[in-house]
Amino acid sequence: MLKVTQLHVRYGTSVTALTDVSLGVGEGEVVAVLGANGAGKSTLLRALSGTLPHHGGQVTRGSIEFEGRDLLGVSPRRIVRAGLIQSPEGRRIFKGLSVEENLRVAAAGAGIPTRHAATVRRTVWDLFPRLEQRREQSAGLLSGGEQQMLAIGRALMAQPRLLLLDEPSLGLAPQMVDSVGAIIEEIHRRGTSVLLVEQNAAMALAVSDRAVVLASGSVCATGPADHLAASDELRDLYLGGTPAPTLDGAPQ
Ligand SMILES: Nc1ncnc2c1ncn2[C@@H]1O[C@H](COP(=O)(O)OP(=O)(O)OP(=O)(O)O)[C@@H](O)[C@H]1O
Ligand SMILES: [Mg+2]
Repeated sequence: MLKVTQLHVRYGTSVTALTDVSLGVGEGEVVAVLGANGAGKSTLLRALSGTLPHHGGQVTRGSIEFEGRDLLGVSPRRIVRAGLIQSPEGRRIFKGLSVEENLRVAAAGAGIPTRHAATVRRTVWDLFPRLEQRREQSAGLLSGGEQQMLAIGRALMAQPRLLLLDEPSLGLAPQMVDSVGAIIEEIHRRGTSVLLVEQNAAMALAVSDRAVVLASGSVCATGPADHLAASDELRDLYLGGTPAPTLDGAPQ
């Protein structure tokens, strides 16, 4: 479904954020991208969703293919319409709008016809009953966890085939982290593939089929999620140890 090949990304002339990153997401898969602060995880997602230029970054080499289509140079709006959407880090929602208005705006932005948007909204309410209870409430008054749910709900309004999530558990209490994990599993069960960036490796590996570990902008380990979950090397990688060998023989 998604095939990233030897991707290089630079910010300005001096910062190389990604070097030679290759990975794939198969139809119906959940793939986790793990790595320490500054490893290049958000950069990878921004490159995929076409939102790098706003951050002064650019892809200097490599390719991104989504369902056979080359995404490099395609506008973010067209990428969303092609079925790939990113729910950005930091819960970007419209705090002055109500919960429901946030979903309406998201649907309009993704080109979902108004009639159909009500049906899609129903599926979001089913997934997040707490949001439905608060549909009239100003989004800025939601709790941190609820705002995160709304950010995911907004992305789902575009009816993506592949959902990119950037640290959905960031700043949440442990109990909420588990519910984010359960929600990702439910989104997956409903037929959406997921590329999940997380610092919470335990949660991410529990809900993923495969994982890719980034260190300093390069893939340093990749393999089935259960193998990585059992790996001591993963802990070393997070502590900034030397890159570990590929766990399943070859980079994805
Ligand atoms: N707009 C920018 N201009 C210059 N350098 C940037 C910019 N955005 C990110 N970087 C640099 O690129 C590298 C990767 O950053 P990125 O945000 O992708 O990391 P990350 O893995 O998402 O980290 P975190 O876990 O802290 O969110 C970092 O060294 C960062 O300083
Ligand atoms: Mg990040």
